[in-house]
Amino acid sequence: MKYGFFDDANQEYVIHTPQTPYPWINYLGNERFFGLISNTGGGYAFYRDARLRRLTRYRYNNIPVDNGGRYFYIYDDGDYWTPGWMPVKRELEQYECRHGLGYTSIMGERRGIRATQLAFVPLSFDGEVHQVKLQNTSLQTKKIKLFSFVEFCLWNAYDDMTNFQRNLNTGEVEIQDSVIYHKTEYRERRNHYAFFSANRPLAGYDTDCEAFLGLYNGLDQPQTITAGQASNSIASGWSPIGSHCIEITLEPGEETSCNFVLGYVENPEEEKWESPGIINKKRAHAMIAQFADETDVERALSELRSYWNDLLSKYTLQSHDDKLNRMVNIWNPYQCMVTFNLSRSASYFESGIGRGMGFRDSNQDLLGFVHQIPERARERIIDIASTQFENGGAYHQYQPLTKKGNHEVGGGFNDDPLWLIVGTSAYIKETGDFGILDEQVPFDGNVDRAASLFEHLKRSFYHVVDNLGPHGLPLIGRADWNDCLNLNCFSATPDESYQTTQNLEGRIAESVFIAGLFVYTGPDFIELCKRRGLNEEAATAQAHVDRMRTATLEHGFDGEWFLRAYDHYGNKIGSKDCEEGQIFIEPQGFCVMAGIGVKEGLAHKALDSTRDRLETPYGIVLQHPPYSRYYMNLGEISSYPPGYKENAGIFCHNNPWIMMAEAVIGRGDRAFELYSKIAPAYLEDISDIHRTEPYVYAQMIAGKDAVREGEAKNSWLTGTAAWNFIAITQSILGIQPEWDGLRIDPCIPKSWGEFTVTRVFRGDTYVIHITNPQHVSKGVATVTVDGTVLTNNILPVAGDGTIHQVKVLLG
Ligand code: BGC
Ligand code: NOJ
Repeated sequence: MKYGFFDDANQEYVIHTPQTPYPWINYLGNERFFGLISNTGGGYAFYRDARLRRLTRYRYNNIPVDNGGRYFYIYDDGDYWTPGWMPVKRELEQYECRHGLGYTSIMGERRGIRATQLAFVPLSFDGEVHQVKLQNTSLQTKKIKLFSFVEFCLWNAYDDMTNFQRNLNTGEVEIQDSVIYHKTEYRERRNHYAFFSANRPLAGYDTDCEAFLGLYNGLDQPQTITAGQASNSIASGWSPIGSHCIEITLEPGEETSCNFVLGYVENPEEEKWESPGIINKKRAHAMIAQFADETDVERALSELRSYWNDLLSKYTLQSHDDKLNRMVNIWNPYQCMVTFNLSRSASYFESGIGRGMGFRDSNQDLLGFVHQIPERARERIIDIASTQFENGGAYHQYQPLTKKGNHEVGGGFNDDPLWLIVGTSAYIKETGDFGILDEQVPFDGNVDRAASLFEHLKRSFYHVVDNLGPHGLPLIGRADWNDCLNLNCFSATPDESYQTTQNLEGRIAESVFIAGLFVYTGPDFIELCKRRGLNEEAATAQAHVDRMRTATLEHGFDGEWFLRAYDHYGNKIGSKDCEEGQIFIEPQGFCVMAGIGVKEGLAHKALDSTRDRLETPYGIVLQHPPYSRYYMNLGEISSYPPGYKENAGIFCHNNPWIMMAEAVIGRGDRAFELYSKIAPAYLEDISDIHRTEPYVYAQMIAGKDAVREGEAKNSWLTGTAAWNFIAITQSILGIQPEWDGLRIDPCIPKSWGEFTVTRVFRGDTYVIHITNPQHVSKGVATVTVDGTVLTNNILPVAGDGTIHQVKVLLG
């Protein structure tokens, strides 16, 4: 069942009922200021850090689930409602939500009033603009009142929901003209405040939650709104809110609009105050002035649209398949941007108060983002590398505001360091900027202990080499990519973290996945050594990679597939000899992507076993059979009921590794079949089962052993976005950035006859038309660039900033 449709021409997903199977959200903001907004107007806003600079409050585990946001109530002669339906739930005669790239508009109509709330964060602007358009669609004059509503968060979102003995006393606001200023804690150490403005004179306002709602009412029944009368309350402690009341008269057919700005201001210490106790509003006034009129909103929105058009033009596909086109051209790169910006911090499944930026996560996120704005990827690489330890290990996470590693989680996830090689290599292949390797980068945030980025990569590489176990395979540490495979933890006490509590120092538990990752990215490190003239270094590294390949073949293959790991006792994990968890997806993907076992025919076996044992109608489950009980020697993976999360859920993050592995062995039909099984646009028709947004990937879909098979959770912030983008754009469509050019090597379904990719690469534009008259999956017969036939399938970097016509013949 569908709840909307894709409007590809406008790059929007259009939702035609507020009652979607779960809140379907969008993100506002590209750089510093962000907002989450659902199709009913729920959500919240923050500046840079969802935990430490939260502007508006959002309650977790709420009932109903999506309650609280930026709401605009319309009071019409005793009747009141909102265009997004929530929280009042008054029946609407019309409803439409359009989620676009960086903006959302929500239209509702009732009793002759059509109201449209448009929300976005303008480019380079530290705030959200909400424009409310009101139209009288009736034949009578309408005298209505428009009430806005936001609830302020007392900045630190964690403290805000725990420290009531203090917080119920600290809230403070100021009101001047039509602007409500939230200045809690500004009197002491904060030099920032929030404001909520309207571009109209007010008939009244409220800034105290209790006065606005009434102590015993919810957001569905605020007493000021039922009375149609603001109470002009001034918050003092308790819960500060911002609500404007605006009187509007509309003749039949007449339309008007109001602009609201929810902004964030930081003042330099010496400019904090206008007069004792009165905040300096200069910067807020300047921001508000930018959105005085309706045309200001139109201009800013069209700037945002062209910003996105430009970003999306870096890689575009024309094919016979609309679903594929919209994934590749619009929604997947859009999700890649969002995950790059927010890592795993704030979504409807991530609270914004827990995790910071992941070392592993951010390196993977930039794979899918680097072609959009390479300079930002460069900056991110340096930030990530700056948290690395001198021994090559890494903090698992860091905080975006401070850029310091998180001590509570620490390090010891032994795959982490290698992702820095993966991320940096992708950046250099995209840009040709080998100079990044000479950047001096601190260790553990300490500028006195800095070394070149190349040295960081070397330490990453040797962190693996220096930490091998009894079979010559990498020690796993607290966990590898699979955070829940905790082979050294042995936790028997509830409330302990599986990952950071007891971690035995035993040097026994090994990961075949890390071995695959090492052999996959090792050649990148070797190539970088060679290009720096370090031939001996390169040869030594090559020997380590060769040894790892051999160890994987000798001790990491189980007859029909790759093993997953050896546990603390040296027993096999992911083996036919195991009672449960006999085969895992991760090593099948990464070992084959690394080329291990391809010429020996083992790769085929591994992928066939994956198909036979792990594949379901909704995708490939992570392992099988699921663990039916808790195993202390395995950790969190066995804590989940069968079919969910890492315990045999469908992890959409590593399904693309199998697509890429299938492409390595040339099985284009399989690769694409797997792609279309989990790509959200293909799941639109089963939205009632899938439940999360049909325009973005979710981290997990419940597996075949789950009670609710096919149901997705954790949409938006997941490495799934980047990896699926790489799988489709590079492995399947076959446009692969390389050190010295663009390699063309598609692996497609045999039935495909042709497609065209337009790819901006290092300043040039390549229009690549690929034809497949013999209906093969793989194999490039000829490539011509601007009429000249190439001797191989790598487009050289032209570097002249022009458009180049490329013809590729498969067969
Ligand atoms: C989840 C993992 C996640 C980890 C993060 C676990 O509970 O299952 O998917 O990576 O927490 O700390
Ligand atoms: C989510 C984490 O963010 C990611 O780093 C991890 O690889 C997966 N969970 C699998 O456990």
